[in-house]
Formats: sequence, C-alpha cells, structure tokens
Amino acid sequence: MGFRRKIVAGNWKMNNSLSDALALVDGIVANLDKHSTTKVIICPPFPFISPIKQHLKDLVKINLGAQNCSEHIAGAYTGEVSAQMLASVNCNYVIIGHSERRTYFNETNEQLTQKLKRALENNLSPIFCIGEKIEQRKNETHFTIVKDQLKNVLTHFSEKELKNLILAYEPVWAIGTGVNATTAQAQEMHAFIRKTISELFTTDFANGLSILYGGSCNAQNAKELFACADVDGGLIGGASLKAADFCTIVSSF
Ligand code: PGA
Repeated sequence: MGFRRKIVAGNWKMNNSLSDALALVDGIVANLDKHSTTKVIICPPFPFISPIKQHLKDLVKINLGAQNCSEHIAGAYTGEVSAQMLASVNCNYVIIGHSERRTYFNETNEQLTQKLKRALENNLSPIFCIGEKIEQRKNETHFTIVKDQLKNVLTHFSEKELKNLILAYEPVWAIGTGVNATTAQAQEMHAFIRKTISELFTTDFANGLSILYGGSCNAQNAKELFACADVDGGLIGGASLKAADFCTIVSSF
C-alpha cells in the first residue's frame, strides 16, 4: 500500500507576481539541503505553475502542486481549471478542501468528492485538508468533525484509488493566526486521524499514509511538530513565501 514519507508542501495562496514567484523558486533552490530526503512540493497560483516548471528545467527535487481544481471534467465553467489541465502542464499534486475553499467558496463534501475523483482520474496526488474551527474545539466536537470530513469524502473511494493520497490536518484557528497547535494537540489529532483511516480502510493503509500538519507552522516550531510520531511533515502557508524559512522547515526532521 502507501509509502509513508516526509513531505513539506508550500501553499502560496494568492500571493506574488510571476517575477516574485520565480525569485522565490530561485531562493528555494539555492537554500535547499541537497541531501534531504524530504519530498518538497510547492503550490503556486495557477498561472505560475507552467513557468515555474520550465524555470526548474530538470530539477525534479521540487514538485509542483495546484491549490484547487474543478469538480467538473471540462466545458462551460468560466474561470475554472480542470485536473486534466493541471496534469497536462506536469503538475502532480493538488490541494483539495483547504479551509479557505470550504469557508469562502462554500465547498461541500459532495463537491470535494468530485474534485478528488477528478484529481485521481488524472493521476494527481491529492493533498486533502481537514480540520476543525475554534468553536468546534471549544465545544469538544473536533474529533467528530474531523472524522466526518474524512468519512464523507474518502469512503467514496477504494484504498487502491487513494494510494497517492496525502492528508493535511489544519485546525482552522491555527491558519494564518500565528497560533499553532501544540505538539500534544497535533499528535493527538494525527493519531486519531490515523486510527480513523485504519477503521475506514485498513491498518496497513493508515500506517502508509503521510499526514501533514498545517497552521502557523514555521521555521521556529517545525522541528518540534515534525518530531511527533504521527506528524509526517507540514503544509506551510505564510512561511512558504520566504525561501530561507521554507528551506529550514524542509530540514526540520
Ligand atoms: P499558514 O497557512 O501556514 O499561513 O498558517 C497554512 C495553510 O493555510 O495551509
């Protein structure tokens, strides 16, 4: 089944011009530990994916992902970008279900299921995001919420179909706030996620799955978060826009 590995993915969100983006890539290439075995993924905005791919030439150490894809295959969906288009520009990963998409664009479990389907049909590895809001943690429904987010989407697929799945636990209250989950909170939830996956699928599959932590993960706290037994890396927002910080995070295992 899956092959659990260390992964650091940068979610650039809606930032930078093309020239800034290429400069950031150059900074990452220059600062990246050449001996690191961590898988590095950067997720720039759509228009920069192809230029960055060309800019990187045959430097395969940096993988490219998108931040979203359409739930539709093709057609009259103005402004949308399909999974097939992403695959055609050699983009290999796609973030699905980020909390900003769920919140600002009202993405539902049904849509996320279709998006995941489109990604898998086109051999894109999905980085599927889950995580509770602050009020859900406060009223102690966070485990139920996360379990439902997993169950309502992933059970539409077989273990075999999900062989390239990556999960990202991102508590909404930690995203962009400077308040990261503590190591205890992260480990507790990651272990719960792995247990839930082993119940929904098999223990082998759960043990092979990479589960990333996201939410104010930075160059200072990455090491302690990544030291947690069930944290296999990070999905990094703000700190992925600074080459030196991002590369420090990549080396934080
Ligand atoms: P942050 O964002 O690192 O800026 O908190 C993480 C994310 O949204 O993926």
